[in-house]
Amino acid sequence: MTSTAPVPQGLSSERDAGPFDPPSQTTRLRETRPVSPLTFPDGHQGWVVTGYDAVRQLLADTRFSSRQDLGVLHVPYETPGMPAFTEPSPQVPGLFIAMDPPDHTRLRRMLTGAFTVKRTKQLEERITEVVERQLDELARLTPPVDLVQEFALPVPSLVICELLGVPYEDRETFQVNSAKFLEKDILLEDKLAAYTAMTTFLGELVTGKRADPGEDLLSDLARHDELTVEELTGIAFLLLFAGHETTANMLSLGTFALLEHPEQAAALRADPDLLPGAVEELMRYLSVVDVLFRYAAEDVELGGETIGKGSTVVFSLLAANRDPGRFDDPDTLDVRRGARGHLSFGHGIHQCLGQQLARIEMRAGFGGLLRRFPSLRLAIPADEVRLRTDMNIYGVHELPVTWTGTAA
Ligand code: HEM
Repeated sequence: MTSTAPVPQGLSSERDAGPFDPPSQTTRLRETRPVSPLTFPDGHQGWVVTGYDAVRQLLADTRFSSRQDLGVLHVPYETPGMPAFTEPSPQVPGLFIAMDPPDHTRLRRMLTGAFTVKRTKQLEERITEVVERQLDELARLTPPVDLVQEFALPVPSLVICELLGVPYEDRETFQVNSAKFLEKDILLEDKLAAYTAMTTFLGELVTGKRADPGEDLLSDLARHDELTVEELTGIAFLLLFAGHETTANMLSLGTFALLEHPEQAAALRADPDLLPGAVEELMRYLSVVDVLFRYAAEDVELGGETIGKGSTVVFSLLAANRDPGRFDDPDTLDVRRGARGHLSFGHGIHQCLGQQLARIEMRAGFGGLLRRFPSLRLAIPADEVRLRTDMNIYGVHELPVTWTGTAA
């Protein structure tokens, strides 16, 4: 059973300006008042932030608390029955994305070693192997095929499973349940049921690793006696969830964007050295993790407005990344742009821990796909591609593609 959640005025999910562009309402908000008051459906007063400078400042300011019930799993105005938070909620053990210092600092510190540029670089060869094997399997299929199921979802799932030490055979459990609690229009009880299914599965997994550790990241963490099984489970949940849903949507929506901008795809095919910059530009242009929120733990001045203590503050990374005050001609996809400074991996203390890993997967993924499938194209009209406007991470539900002939 589902029910329709009301959306606060001023923040629409509807992609009325095209599949890659912010909703026109959001753009208008940024143009008129980049830090705007907002009334939530329950009458609660809050704010919506859409300008680049204000979003960046907000992310850097720890007076804006990340302590929300289930962190990324809930958006206060979109989960029926879930009130907006006006005070810190009890913390979910291990879920440090929804914690403030010092709790956040303690847990994040345990993981930074595993995600450094150097450590992830060492994984590059293995990731490229995973990508190439998946491309071999794709090439054996008879098109049209759904690129989401056959490529964009398996690649990050395989990589994060191997890194964490989660059996890939169990992907049904985590893929189905992750997708469930990303649904906007889902009852709180159903969302919690999906969360419980995931944490039951991962709780058993980390308990096994504590008893008999192996060579993977969760085993390394399980060796830390100061982490409880509940904390280990929460960390495993966060990494597994963040590690596959985000990158999968970037790979599929990014491919869709390249197919719709053939001159950009051609530039990349002609000069693969453009790939690292193209990945940054696709991240900026698409911002699949878009709407996030904080609440003000104190009164804070932001963009000339006073955000009162206790206010919920919703912000759009996509709107910020399309701010003409920060990027010239922001609505144009330009793989040569040099999109440094985009906010798609966040900013400040919660900046994405897996960003180097994600970059490697995307370089290998987009690069391999363009090289091996020179004639890759959509198998249906672009306006029939089903957009994930109903989910909390944006992308496409399916991407039917076709080709004639493959390359080595
Ligand atoms: C945090 C985006 C891939 C793990 C974040 C945040 C964003 C983000 C915007 C900040 C959230 C906030 O400030 O509230 C993305 C995107 C990805 C991606 C767009 C892919 C293209 C990954 C991968 C991992 C990962 C592959 C792997 C493990 C995390 C974790 C956090 C995080 C653990 C929380 C960090 C903290 O609270 O200190 N990500 N992410 N992400 N991401 Fe990613």
